[in-house]
Amino acid sequence: MNNRTLFVLSIAAATSLVFGMAAFAGGNADKPLVWWNRQPSNSSTGELDMAALTWNDKTYYVGFDASQGAELQGQMIADYINENIDTIDRNGDGIIGYVLAIGDIGHNDSIARNLGVRKALGTGVEAGGEIDPSPAETNVDGSASVVQDGEIGGLTVRELASHEMKNASGATWDAATAGSIIGTWAASFGDQIDVVISNNDGMGMAMFHAWSQAEEVPTFGYDANSDAVAAIAEGYAGTISQRADVQAYLTLRVLRNAIDGVDPDTGIGIADEAGNVLSDTDYYYDEASRSYYALNLAVTSDNYEDFLDSTVVYAPVANQLSEEAAPVKNIWLDIYNASDNFLSSTYQPLLEKYDDLLNLNVAYIGGDGQTESNITNRLDNPDQYDAYAVNMVKTDNAASYTALLQ
Ligand code: BGC
Ligand code: CA
Repeated sequence: MNNRTLFVLSIAAATSLVFGMAAFAGGNADKPLVWWNRQPSNSSTGELDMAALTWNDKTYYVGFDASQGAELQGQMIADYINENIDTIDRNGDGIIGYVLAIGDIGHNDSIARNLGVRKALGTGVEAGGEIDPSPAETNVDGSASVVQDGEIGGLTVRELASHEMKNASGATWDAATAGSIIGTWAASFGDQIDVVISNNDGMGMAMFHAWSQAEEVPTFGYDANSDAVAAIAEGYAGTISQRADVQAYLTLRVLRNAIDGVDPDTGIGIADEAGNVLSDTDYYYDEASRSYYALNLAVTSDNYEDFLDSTVVYAPVANQLSEEAAPVKNIWLDIYNASDNFLSSTYQPLLEKYDDLLNLNVAYIGGDGQTESNITNRLDNPDQYDAYAVNMVKTDNAASYTALLQ
């Protein structure tokens, strides 16, 4: 190689280095982005926010199949009522009365669960082809317009009351609110409550401890948090696993794949070098909405012993990646509310285990559950990260995040 060739080559190398750096700096808009747990959508209509879901070609949503899970929850409750039809009506008034704790009226998961319960118990009222998910508030006399009386085994089923459990500062899915409202409901119509239903275990367990455990009133939740599963041995009637062990893996895995520029199905539908792979009973992918949905499982007294620790990684995807194949990368990840029961006791511990297995160095940012800015203020140096994982306070607010990734 002569000097001239060397010179040309080194100019070429320097040029590509400069161009490469230019493409990288300010390239945050092109970096992998995953929305997780809260799907970008209109909080009044539920319509998906496609601009956010297709922000770039490395954008995904990871959640779970909300309708399939809600249907399972409704079915689990209806089955319980059928199996206990002779004893369920505690005051013998011919009415199976239930109360329902609602998480967040603008959250697709919460809406789906109201529909699932009302559909299975026959208490839903259709409006425009869809069951109305609105809170009935107090309906002891059966006069509310958003619900109607259903019928199971010759008994009337009535939603005695339902309410969105939001606290004074605006945090939703609020367990403390549920724990205090069950007291108010019990004080005025406690002997009429035969079943307690909740959109999640955080609120369900608060009501169980405050009232229904002592009264031996069956209580149903959702999430399969460890404390709720353990409570099945003490009378908690059942919950649904939304497969946080699958979701937490997918949330980090889609980023890992996109950063590495490998087949997006690596370690998901097809085994990676370490043997990690999921099966189609664990999840499905919908290309149109760029969304991965985990499939739920019911957890009752029949099978709860298999679910006692909700923070155990899922064995088929628990193999360590090598640092040669997957060098360490930096991820920014926020949790909309650092004190959300499910996210802090089940989901985050799983993320923290998978981040090691996938060689990802994750900065965990815990929000206050009330304002988006509390979180976005802490995405002040996006250049520092290779990818982002966002859990919004409000599902309408995707643009507050993408605006920072320019
Ligand atoms: C969970 C809730 C949780 C919420 C947070 C839902 O999927 O079931 O427990 O509070 O996600 O967004
Ligand atoms: Ca009754």
